[in-house]
Amino acid sequence: MIYDFNQVINRYNTNSVKWDKTEKLFGDKDILPMWIADMDFACPKPVINAIKERTEHGIFGYTFRSKNYFEAFMNWVERRHDWSIKKQWIRCTPGIMTALSIAIQTFTNERDKIIIQTPVYTPFTEVIEKNNRKIELNPLKLNNEKYEMDYENLEKVVANTDVKMIILCNPHNPVGRVWSREELTKMGQICMENDVLVISDEAHMDIVHKGSTHTPFASISEAFADNSITCTAPSKTFNLAGVQMANNIIPNKELRNSFTNMIDRLYLGLSNTFGVTTVENAYRYGGEWFDQFLDYLEGNLIFLTEFIETNLKEIKVIPPEGTYLVWLDCRGLGMDAKDLEDFLQKKAKIAFDEGYTFGEGGEGFTRVNIACPRHILEEGLRRIEKAVNESLIRVGRKTQ
Ligand SMILES: Cc1ncc(COP(=O)(O)O)c(C=O)c1O
Repeated sequence: MIYDFNQVINRYNTNSVKWDKTEKLFGDKDILPMWIADMDFACPKPVINAIKERTEHGIFGYTFRSKNYFEAFMNWVERRHDWSIKKQWIRCTPGIMTALSIAIQTFTNERDKIIIQTPVYTPFTEVIEKNNRKIELNPLKLNNEKYEMDYENLEKVVANTDVKMIILCNPHNPVGRVWSREELTKMGQICMENDVLVISDEAHMDIVHKGSTHTPFASISEAFADNSITCTAPSKTFNLAGVQMANNIIPNKELRNSFTNMIDRLYLGLSNTFGVTTVENAYRYGGEWFDQFLDYLEGNLIFLTEFIETNLKEIKVIPPEGTYLVWLDCRGLGMDAKDLEDFLQKKAKIAFDEGYTFGEGGEGFTRVNIACPRHILEEGLRRIEKAVNESLIRVGRKTQ
């Protein structure tokens, strides 16, 4: 079937964090929410139908994940990423962040150090700090609008024996890099030689733009598979963040047993009835929807890039290779981090995720979520254009 991604669906009064919390968080009901990573699109029809059918049954007792559930996921990973995984490698958690927290608690001790590569998804910092571990930074380097890992600094950082783990973001939120096999190999080698466990957060693994290919870190070699945990979820791919389901791939038996012990201690072994139905059907039947979504997203990215190049010359798009999040370099507006935040929220009336919240290197940037009908994207961009024009007129840099 053909999906209509232009359709605007009212999400107010659905307990949506993105829409119903915007007024509380950003202090204004007229703010257009283009922040947090979920999409304004309905998920694949077969998923909706399967949930309806499951609902009609009327009994929602204790539920396990069936062989069919795992098969659907494994087949998706094989088809889409050419990576053959085994059922016994998979451990499920209610979200990737839960998996990261479990990994930190299981494989590091209090005050151990964990590497993150900023600017990066804000909860990486939080999950390390909340577990009383220390952050070791290996900030990304920006070269000609392309972010790269700093291997030289990584070598220095891992030499400290307190450093036990790295949380890799692959593809990287918010800068949109889809790390290449060569880059991952270089990083993975350094970590392996220094006994640093790699937790590869691959939340955005499926959302890759034309010309790029996602490489699951653990698929590169047996040695990397042995020294890593790969965290995946259907949340980004099919817009299912609210079902809170994640599949984590742990080929190393020793690591897997320890991870499983923690799952048992936390009583996370069973699953949400609707989650199982949703995820199995998404991976089994969601491909058609997903391919059309990727095409639409590509169109949104082109639209955003052309609009900014034409109308917002002070802002630069960092071309993303993956994710539906776009990292905008706003340093040309000449504002500090707080002024930029105030400008976007109070003048443009837009809710983005402010760059400084992603850690070192994020100041002067902002992250926009473009997984919305084009009409909403255009509305957001026009609001910024208007606010920029007004403020430039005020300081006399532009005439009308
Ligand atoms: C890189 C990354 N990891 C994890 C998450 C959150 O995953 P979950 O909702 O499964 O905990 C997100 C959500 O935006 C993300 O971008």
